[in-house]
Amino acid sequence: AAIKFDSSGLKNFVKDNELDEIKDQVRFAHQTLVQKSGAGADFTDWVNWASIQTEATLAPIHQAAEKIQANSKVLVVIGIGGSYLGARMAIDFVKSPWHNELVAGKAVKVYFAGNAMSPMALDQLDQVIGDQDFSVNVISKSGTTTEPAVAFRFFKQRLVAKYGEEGAKERIVATTDAKRGALKSEAEAEGYQTLTIPDGIGGRFSVLSAVGLLPMAAAGIDIDQVLAAAATAEKTYSSDDLYENPALAYAAYRRILYDKGYTTEILANWEPSLQYLSEWWKQLMGESEGKNQKGIYPSSANYSTDLHSLGQYIQEGRRDLFETVVRVDHSKHDLTIPKTGSNEDGLLYLEGKSLEEVNKTAATGVVLAHVDGGVPNLAVHVDRQDEAGLGELIYFFEMAVGVSGYLFNINPFNQPGVEAYKTAMFALLDKPGYEEQSKVYHERLND
Ligand code: PA5
Repeated sequence: AAIKFDSSGLKNFVKDNELDEIKDQVRFAHQTLVQKSGAGADFTDWVNWASIQTEATLAPIHQAAEKIQANSKVLVVIGIGGSYLGARMAIDFVKSPWHNELVAGKAVKVYFAGNAMSPMALDQLDQVIGDQDFSVNVISKSGTTTEPAVAFRFFKQRLVAKYGEEGAKERIVATTDAKRGALKSEAEAEGYQTLTIPDGIGGRFSVLSAVGLLPMAAAGIDIDQVLAAAATAEKTYSSDDLYENPALAYAAYRRILYDKGYTTEILANWEPSLQYLSEWWKQLMGESEGKNQKGIYPSSANYSTDLHSLGQYIQEGRRDLFETVVRVDHSKHDLTIPKTGSNEDGLLYLEGKSLEEVNKTAATGVVLAHVDGGVPNLAVHVDRQDEAGLGELIYFFEMAVGVSGYLFNINPFNQPGVEAYKTAMFALLDKPGYEEQSKVYHERLND
């Protein structure tokens, strides 16, 4: 396996018998998930999605990526939430947060849009693209989400201005539902290439479908390897016994900690390239679990940066936090701290040492300090930041949250709470169909 789960940082917080006590509940939650007998079962096709992919099912994705690579320098990926975070995480994780600056070979630069309503963000991205050849991958399962739809209008206009009506159509790939939604109808009417988001997979579980795979492939990630790793993970994490299945152990410990009052989880990392792993994870966890006034609040910390900001709170603030650290066992790069033979900067004791080793030692030290400060610690070790590590990590967290949701007795696969902001926004923007709410909301604001 490319990842290892380590619960030794819980010694002061959880006793062995507590894990034993929750074992049967976890077994039942796992069976509920894999037998598709629980709430939201219609959205659990991700459980064995990777292993049923074939050359034929992946061919349209490979072909679309090759076409983009052949005619563009830039791919603009338009999407929000589950239609955004997975691809961004993957490119940072396997390639680099500086992928666009370091781009090489056939790979294209990938920029993300449609995840904000900000005119500044859109306008500046427009400037960044400049006169480079570009294509657009617009992603929306519902096909009706406002933020990406607005961004798509802008980029369509830009494509038409640069390549003409017909040329523009050749540079648009719409990733959406097989049948429903405004994006699907528009794609059909206009003749854009479409890729399908499977019915049985919800947004935040869709990274291994065309949603995540096309941007990854365009960026030069080997998507066959990512899927192969996830397919292997289906077996690695198939046992319903938490002593044999680390994803279940993780779900169990989270639940035990929650019941003891540790209601906020910090996903921490020691690599800037893992920041978006945390962003993806926060959506996965928060949108799946945060229901019926229950659930662990998912937050994140990027070290060393946050040791000089959040670190104070983590060490000494309110004691309702636990930490899950994602640790990379083999960095893709290492550097030796330069030798000067001088202690002018106080670093003589470090010179000649591997920076990777220093980073790891710092991580180990921080675990000890945080545990001493009363913060239970879990660790997920990933062997390398490569396709194999990514595929397995994705599956590990998805499996854990599915089981965790059933332990909380909620439907982990819906997101009814997301509608509340839309109703308020549409009402205030006077969207047709929201007339009654419009009156109420405008009155509340006295305008
Ligand atoms: O997990 C989810 O379902 C959501 O976060 C969606 O991914 C997000 O709201 C975007 O939806 P859509 O792909 O329909 O535009």
